[in-house]
Amino acid sequence: MDVRSFWLNGSPATGDSELIVTNPHDGREVGRHSVPTDAQVEEAVAGAHAVARQAAALPVHVRAEALAHVSRRLAERADEIARLISAENGKPIFWARGEVSRAVATFRFAAEETRRWSGEVQRLDTEPAAAGRLAYVSRVPKGPVLAITPFNFPLNLVAHKVAPALAVGAPVIVKPAPATPLSALVLGEILAETDLPAGMFSVLPLQNERAAALVADPRLPVVSFTGSAPVGYAIADQVPRKHVTLELGGNAAAVVLADADLDWAAQRVALFSNYQAGQSCIAVQRVIVEQPVYDAFVERLLPAVDALVTGDPADEKTQVGPLVSEAAAERVEQWVQEAVAGGARLLAGGTRDGATVAPTVLADVPHDAKVACEEVFGPVLILQPAASIDEAYAMVNDSKYGLQAGVFTRSLDAAFRANRELEVGGVIIGDVPSYRADQMPYGGVKDSGIGREGLHSAMEDYTYEKVMVLTGLTL
Ligand code: SIN
Repeated sequence: MDVRSFWLNGSPATGDSELIVTNPHDGREVGRHSVPTDAQVEEAVAGAHAVARQAAALPVHVRAEALAHVSRRLAERADEIARLISAENGKPIFWARGEVSRAVATFRFAAEETRRWSGEVQRLDTEPAAAGRLAYVSRVPKGPVLAITPFNFPLNLVAHKVAPALAVGAPVIVKPAPATPLSALVLGEILAETDLPAGMFSVLPLQNERAAALVADPRLPVVSFTGSAPVGYAIADQVPRKHVTLELGGNAAAVVLADADLDWAAQRVALFSNYQAGQSCIAVQRVIVEQPVYDAFVERLLPAVDALVTGDPADEKTQVGPLVSEAAAERVEQWVQEAVAGGARLLAGGTRDGATVAPTVLADVPHDAKVACEEVFGPVLILQPAASIDEAYAMVNDSKYGLQAGVFTRSLDAAFRANRELEVGGVIIGDVPSYRADQMPYGGVKDSGIGREGLHSAMEDYTYEKVMVLTGLTL
């Protein structure tokens, strides 16, 4: 098999070793890539540092056209890239196609947003002492961005860091997840077709233990990390004086109130507790159901879970595929067994075949079971009855995480109350917590992270406000 190059300061490069990427479904080799040497990593950091001033001064049309080009090329190569995502990640092709469409939109939004990125003018003559004075407030890149990206969306979560960086004129170095680097390398190939200056981007497929040196490097003042809470907070602790954005995990809850459309709620909860085999930070892990509709909801949920098609991710009909590795599936299986040993009732699933865990539903789960209070990152749903809306919302908040929550209700009062009371970064009314539009702010509170992504939010995150005061004007 050909060895894919990595991207060093915008050009293809090879190191002195290579790594093989395998398909979690059948262990087959998907591809192999060259691995940067320490000297090449240093070259990438030096390149990003050297180009930073030029990058910040790039005309808007250059940045916008580069981003629009990436969006167009992703759309043109959508089928090939979706197959690659599916093969390296194990994600069913249906979801992989959805991920490519989202990345097309992510780059398109970035191209649009960079054209609107003009700063603002503030009159200062609100006080007599400032007569004739005006402030121009613009945003300036904090500097090159180190983007450390996860395996669960190997293209779109890379896009969420690369696109806003390029949009504000910040160089970016991507360290993709070791399990799924190939999609990021294809993105590098497309970025290399643009007119961006050398040094503006590098994609370095490194093993995780080599990330610490990059994190520590003062020439990369912004670190944007998506992944687990322990790793994220270790990064924040390692570099307390850097700007660190953390998109971490969750044990997302969907609340089903007594007035909800139960058929819709059951369909959505069944699908989104199992999409991508539960490997999304906003997959439904807990469903909290108001007591009067609990039995009616469960009656609808279990057949919907049972109807999910599990199998080969390359098959267009498959809805639930393998986890990213057999080790990940073994961990999920063990957490389910621990819950059952502690008194939980298994209503569906609970079995494992290699890296695939059957869609699993549990009731009566002990409060301190890992499947209740940690992030499962697997196709496991726990059912929790609530006596009232007060209790339901309190149960959502009874978590160390706070990324997104979904509330199935037709009541505006219940919706606004959820927005006021739920300790999360996003509340989705009438749908699962798993809903994400790529332009909206996305991020968590509590142990779910620091900062926000979503194009506009990430562009703010990568920049600081700078004010220029003009004096002696006749306004
Ligand atoms: C995540 O797993 O945090 C990303 C979810 C998404 O982008 O849909």
